[in-house]
Amino acid sequence: MSNYICVGGQWGDEGKGRIVDILSEKSDIVVRYQGGNNAGHTLVVDGVRTVLHLIPSGILHKHIVCVIAPGVVIDPEVLLQEIDTLNARGVVTDPSRLLLSPTAHVIFPFHKKLDLAREKARGSEKIGTTGRGIGPAYEEKVGRRGIRLYELFDKKHLAQRIRDACVFVNTILNALDAETFSGHEIEEMIERYSQHAQRLKPFVCDIHGFLQRARTERKRILFEGAQGALLDVDHGTYPYVTSSNCVAGHAAAGSGDGFARHAKVVLVTKCYATRVGSGPFPTELHDDVGENLRQKGAEFGATTGRPRRCGWLDMKALKYACEIHGADLLAITKLDILAEMPTIKVCIGYEIDGVAVGHFPWNPEDLARVRPVYREFAGFGPLASNMNNRSDLPKEAQEYLSFIEDYCGVHIALVSTGPQRGAELSEF
Ligand code: IMP
Repeated sequence: MSNYICVGGQWGDEGKGRIVDILSEKSDIVVRYQGGNNAGHTLVVDGVRTVLHLIPSGILHKHIVCVIAPGVVIDPEVLLQEIDTLNARGVVTDPSRLLLSPTAHVIFPFHKKLDLAREKARGSEKIGTTGRGIGPAYEEKVGRRGIRLYELFDKKHLAQRIRDACVFVNTILNALDAETFSGHEIEEMIERYSQHAQRLKPFVCDIHGFLQRARTERKRILFEGAQGALLDVDHGTYPYVTSSNCVAGHAAAGSGDGFARHAKVVLVTKCYATRVGSGPFPTELHDDVGENLRQKGAEFGATTGRPRRCGWLDMKALKYACEIHGADLLAITKLDILAEMPTIKVCIGYEIDGVAVGHFPWNPEDLARVRPVYREFAGFGPLASNMNNRSDLPKEAQEYLSFIEDYCGVHIALVSTGPQRGAELSEF
């Protein structure tokens, strides 16, 4: 029996939703344990495209129970909207299929306003956040001022917590020269959020107890990571990162299921690289090749619609990601996007001022200065639609994949060759 942790090996947007969808067939429970609705997991099932930001992608499988664990930050308005959309599409999303942790922290409108005001104040130094209030919500959590989901159920208590939070937030907004929350807006927020609370209450349960029972019943658990290794707040390209730990090790901490550490880690990476938002990106392409990747790969943010920055695969960064995640298996996505390119480049090392850099740079200044050293691979033609395993791929594509595998020292268990379910060569 295998439990899995599915994580991103780059700067997010690696196609994790797709892999979670595949692994869900072999799971009973899917758990999200970090991040919030900054994520955007896109799935194409029977030609219908679904983008989920908060609810685990496993919801599209009827047998799966989805869990939003304590480490996630929840925007109730986004969550209710997703619940309504899924139900309207006939995907049953009720308390028998979706469980929420009472101790997950809640995103309020003031977190979003703070997020946007801080970004504006940073000017050219902006992080390029998704503007969803993720950073400020995690800050409040770590600052021990945050409001947890269960606190929404007692209206009097909630009212006091929101009023207190707004005093604090208004001081910061004032200092940032941004519009503050009026008394009327605050009272309206209290009313709205206590209504949301009534709708969400039936979904809330003891997640710790649920997961431990699931363990004793030998249920198969899949932990769904959001964002990617290089956006991790401790190990990514700080400060151009998100505000949570995206590494696989955090599946145990964010879910409260310590046994998650025994799960197999599946690292998902595209066969080229993308990044949304600011921050160093050594292999970024500013030419027609980059534009071609963006158009052919539909590289536009699932959450914000922003065009993604595109470039060649960076093995130095990928190997680092394998190490900090503790990757057991690799899943390579979007091989079809590289098809018909005359040549394919891969970064195999970095230099600064002509001197080789041994480690993955830990500060953004050095990472911004590195010059990638490339190895060139022959391109390959269009991919056939009737392939069953890797040996059916064009020889040049097989060589490219074997190189990735050897460099990382991690076996490739899946290669996706198209956006729709079934277009993959999978050992799962
Ligand atoms: P935040 O998470 O909204 O604070 O954004 C911080 C950084 O992480 C920005 O560069 C975002 O573009 C990036 N980011 C956050 N979530 C995702 C994601 O799911 N995919 C790709 N990038 C993300």
